[in-house]
Amino acid sequence: MQNLVTDKEFDAGDVLRQGEAAIGASASSAALAEVETELFGKRSLLATVQRSLGGLEPEARRDAGRRLQEVRATLEAAAATRRAELEEAERGLTLSADRLDLSEVIPARVTSPLSRGHLHLVTQARDELEDVFVGMGFVVAEGPEAESDWYNFEALNMPPAHPARGMYDTLYLDIGEPETVLLRTHTSPVQIHLMEEAAREGTLPIHAVMPGKCFRLDTPDASHLPVFNQIEGLVVDRDITFGDLAGTIQTFTEAYFGSGMQSRLRPAYFPFTEPSAELEITCTICRGAGCRTCSNTGWIELGGCGMVDPAVFAAVGIDADEWSGFAFGFGIDRCALMRHEVPDMRSFLENDIRFLSQF
Ligand code: PHE
Repeated sequence: MQNLVTDKEFDAGDVLRQGEAAIGASASSAALAEVETELFGKRSLLATVQRSLGGLEPEARRDAGRRLQEVRATLEAAAATRRAELEEAERGLTLSADRLDLSEVIPARVTSPLSRGHLHLVTQARDELEDVFVGMGFVVAEGPEAESDWYNFEALNMPPAHPARGMYDTLYLDIGEPETVLLRTHTSPVQIHLMEEAAREGTLPIHAVMPGKCFRLDTPDASHLPVFNQIEGLVVDRDITFGDLAGTIQTFTEAYFGSGMQSRLRPAYFPFTEPSAELEITCTICRGAGCRTCSNTGWIELGGCGMVDPAVFAAVGIDADEWSGFAFGFGIDRCALMRHEVPDMRSFLENDIRFLSQF
């Protein structure tokens, strides 16, 4: 084999200079990769020389080997530096090519005009009912939707196994042992919260309305939803009479449903009021003449009301000799239904924009 190390064909200085020139001249990382193959690959001059070292005397082999290694290391370092430069430049190019000029104003392509949403009919009804009562001097209060048995039943004069509990198809929550936790079946438990607080803080009298969601295990139909909304009213003051209750209901009826609309109170039973009444208004569909919606009575039931039962005052620690009061509770969804003559309550939950956008 030809001895290249000693041969003039291999001049370490030449190889170094030419290699460095080739590395410096490569204009892209791809071009550099080719130069590297030429310089360090199996068929490169360096490799060939490397292979021929075996034929030398030990001392000469060591010398030549060292020189060869130096050349290789210098060129490899030069290639690494060049690669870093090229890659940096290439990354810059990619970034500027990918750059989006967001300052450029592109007209939006709007094929149909965007329409603006609005509050759901039931939310509107709730807001308007609040307004009516605030106008009459009531404040608005709220309470929790998950309640203990005490607030939903017991404090409202419905001890365990009281038959009136049967009126409420109650959804119980599987938590809260040892206390029974349930989804409130009416907004009346908020009365208890307010009265307990007022008794504790000494802040009687109370004139409050309490709107909110209620839950009953009901099959949805045209006039019932398992999740519905009520608004509760509570007045606790001195010398409150049934006449105050009747007057408040009539004022509300005309303010919300329009003048000429009548309210009436029919004897009924609730454990937490005594006496109790069912609260009815003129049927908004037939204006009292009698139709299918009102079963030809001319009246529509909205909810219940009555004078706060002394047993409830006792449960919350209010002196029934000093204070008296009335309470009422009725369905917000039902108010919206009656006022807008909506034939089926389930439309409130169907999210049909053709229905909702009418209100
Ligand atoms: N909470 C009763 C119900 O939902 C209605 C009611 C409220 C009755 C206040 C009397 C007083 O059936």
